Parts: sequence; structure tokens; C-alpha cells
Amino acid sequence: MCRVAGACTTLLMMLLLGCYGGNQQGQFHSFSIPANFPPPLYRFKNNTITQAGFVLGRKLFYEPRLSRNSTISCGSCHIQSAGFTQHGHDVSHGIDDRLGTRNSPPIMNLAWSATFMWDGGITDLDLQPLAPISNHAEMDNNMENVIRKLKSHPQYPGLFKGAFGTEDITSARVLKALSQFMLMCISSHSKYDSVMRREGGVTFSVEEREGYFIYQQKCAACHAEPLFTDHSFRNNGLSITAVNDVGRYAVTLKPSDRYSFSVPSLRNLAYTAPYMHDGRYLTVAAVLNHYTDLMELTPGLDSLFIREGRPGLTMTQEDKIKLMAFLKTLNDIQFVRDPLLSPQ
Ligand code: HEC
Ligand code: HEC
Repeated sequence: MCRVAGACTTLLMMLLLGCYGGNQQGQFHSFSIPANFPPPLYRFKNNTITQAGFVLGRKLFYEPRLSRNSTISCGSCHIQSAGFTQHGHDVSHGIDDRLGTRNSPPIMNLAWSATFMWDGGITDLDLQPLAPISNHAEMDNNMENVIRKLKSHPQYPGLFKGAFGTEDITSARVLKALSQFMLMCISSHSKYDSVMRREGGVTFSVEEREGYFIYQQKCAACHAEPLFTDHSFRNNGLSITAVNDVGRYAVTLKPSDRYSFSVPSLRNLAYTAPYMHDGRYLTVAAVLNHYTDLMELTPGLDSLFIREGRPGLTMTQEDKIKLMAFLKTLNDIQFVRDPLLSPQ
């Protein structure tokens, strides 16, 4: 018990700050590498993150003017409360309600990725936004039009000056600012992270620990710690649909890459349903069923999934329950609520 009111307040403040890993939510802080993460791959020397650059990038990310008719922003398909995915949509919904063919992936821990998109077709984060801005089914716009609109806006010239020194609005600056915002979308405050960083005596429950062992045996070869992806491209035996999305093959034209897709992270599954590149599964339980019962021996199926000529992983119902308990420790409520990353 605190006898002195001041001591209580101090204790409360320490607890609150402790939960937030020292960063007060909503306040800008410099890019820092979580203690349990590897070094990032993004080349920061070409684009140093500053507060003004980040604030501009955030405004651009939530700016519908980036689309042809000013109705769709990046944030329309990458919604923070849904772990920066598009909740409730199997494939993305863009301008004029046009449908894409793939599920919106999260904007999360991108400083650690060298390839982007489900097929890895983009290898530079600073160029990535050109794809949605020009895509017919997403924003259906072009950079000249974006720049024209931003130049005639009362705030943007000043914001660009604050971020880059002059009022010039160029493609390169728009893209760099967007990267600055996206790079700061770091999810590293799940229970799993606290356990790994030995923060505040947080430990796994017995069920979570047993689930962790199952994860290590069955999933870690692809969904590797601590990002929960090894950033490879694999075929996990999804049935081929009418869209016939060939995945990585379209980029490399290597027959062995047919139907291979980028291994997604397992962080924040509680917020990012539906799952897989086409959003075909609505629940984590359905995904686990896929791995045990529904997997198909499609061309290029990863050899890790083939046992005695048959596709699939072996897990009992009990194993699945334990595994789901572990997967829940990867949810990071702070990330999906952090006001720093929300539209202002
Ligand atoms: C209409 C919905 C939609 C809009 C608008 C949209 N995106 Fe996306 N985004 C997607 C989809 C779908 C993918 C996956 C595309 C693929 O794999 O072919 C994606 C992929 C990405 C990726 C790659 C993530 C990864 O881990 O590979 C990034 C980064 C990204 N979008 C950023 C943006 C930015 C920045 C904007 C605004 C300029 C934007 N998106 C606008 C739907 C959208
Ligand atoms: C051989 C590599 C490999 C192994 C092993 C593996 N996965 Fe996957 N996983 C993938 C790939 C590739 C995808 C994306 C497939 C696609 O969308 O086409 C995926 C997708 C997922 C998704 C969907 C995530 C999202 O955001 O859409 C979940 C959940 C998942 N796996 C869980 C697991 C679990 C749990 C295990 C262990 C029981 C496991 N995976 C084992 C490669 C693997």
C-alpha cells in the first residue's frame, strides 16, 4: 500500500511507462531497434527519420488526395485497428469499390524486410507506394496528379519545408516521407516480446509454453522468430482457385516458385483476419485445419509438408489449442492503439 499520495502517483507512472517500454504513447521518439530484434535492413542513411518527416509521412498515409478522386488513402486498406490490414475484406477494396485479387498485408516491422508484396515483386520500400497509387483497382492515380494536388493544399508546402528544407514537393520526397511513417510501424510489445526480453517478470503460462514448443517444431522453419517470418517464399499447399495466382513465379519465372508466396508474420493475428494471400480463411482455427487436413499436393508444395508422399502436418486437437494459446501471445495491443500511428 502507498501511504503517501505522491508515491502512489510515481508508482503508477512507472508502471505505465514500463508497459510502454519507456516510450510514451502518442509521442514521437527516434527509430530504435527492439532488444530482441536483429539489425534492420532498410538503408536509413538515404532517408533518416525525423519528427517532421514522420509527421508528413503520417499525413500522406492517411491522405485520400493520393487517389484519383480523393476517396481512398493508404489507411483505407491498411487500418491500424486491424494491424494495418483491411479487416473484413478477403481481397482489397479500392477506388470506386473495385476489387483487387490479394489480401492487404500489415504495415509492420517493414525495416526488417528486403522484399515487399505477397510475391516479393518490389525490393525497395521507397518505391512501393508507386504501385498502389497507380494501380487501377487501388488508387488509380499518377504522381504528377498527386503532386499537383499537394502543391495546391494550404499545409503541404510548409510540411515539406519542415521535413526536407524547402517547399519543393517531388515524388522522391513523397515516397521518403511515406517510408518514414511506415518504418515507425514497429510491433514489438506483445507478451512474447516481454517474455523474451525478460521484462517485469512476465512468463508464459504452461499452455503457452507447450504451444511455443509445438510452434518451434511445426512452424518455426518458415515463421521464424523474432519477426515470425524468415522472409522466404513458400508454397503451403493452398488449393488453386479460379484466379490462378501463381505468386512468386510471376516475378522469377522459375517453375519451382509456382504458387509460392511470401511467408507472412504470425504477429497480431487477432487483428488481421482474414488470412492467406487471398484472405480465404476467417479464423486461426481454420488455418490450423488447413495445415492438418486441407493441404493439397500442388506443384511446388514445400517439402517440409510432405510426409510419406502425403501433404500436411500432424497435430492433435490438444496441440492446436496449445498452439493457439501461444499465438495469442504475439498480439500487440499497444501497436494497434498507439496514437502516434493513428490519423491525427
Ligand atoms: C485498395 C487497397 C490498398 C490501398 C489503397 C493501398 N494498399 Fe498497400 N497493399 C494492398 C494489397 C492488396 C497489398 C498486397 C499486394 C500484393 O501482394 O500484390 C499491399 C501491399 C503493401 C505493402 C507491402 C507490405 C509487405 O509486407 O509486403 C506496403 C508497404 C503497402 N501496401 C503500403 C501502401 C501505401 C504506402 C499505400 C498508399 C500510397 C497503400 N499501400 C495503399 C492494398 C492496398
Ligand atoms: C514451409 C513453410 C511454412 C510452414 C512450416 C508453416 N507455414 Fe504458415 N504460411 C506459410 C506461407 C508461405 C504462408 C502464406 C501462404 C499464402 O498466402 O499463399 C503462410 C500463412 C500462414 C498464416 C496466414 C497469416 C496471414 O497473415 O495471412 C498463418 C496464420 C500461418 N501460416 C500459421 C502457421 C502455423 C501456425 C504453422 C505451424 C503449424 C505454419 N504456419 C507453418 C509457410 C509456412
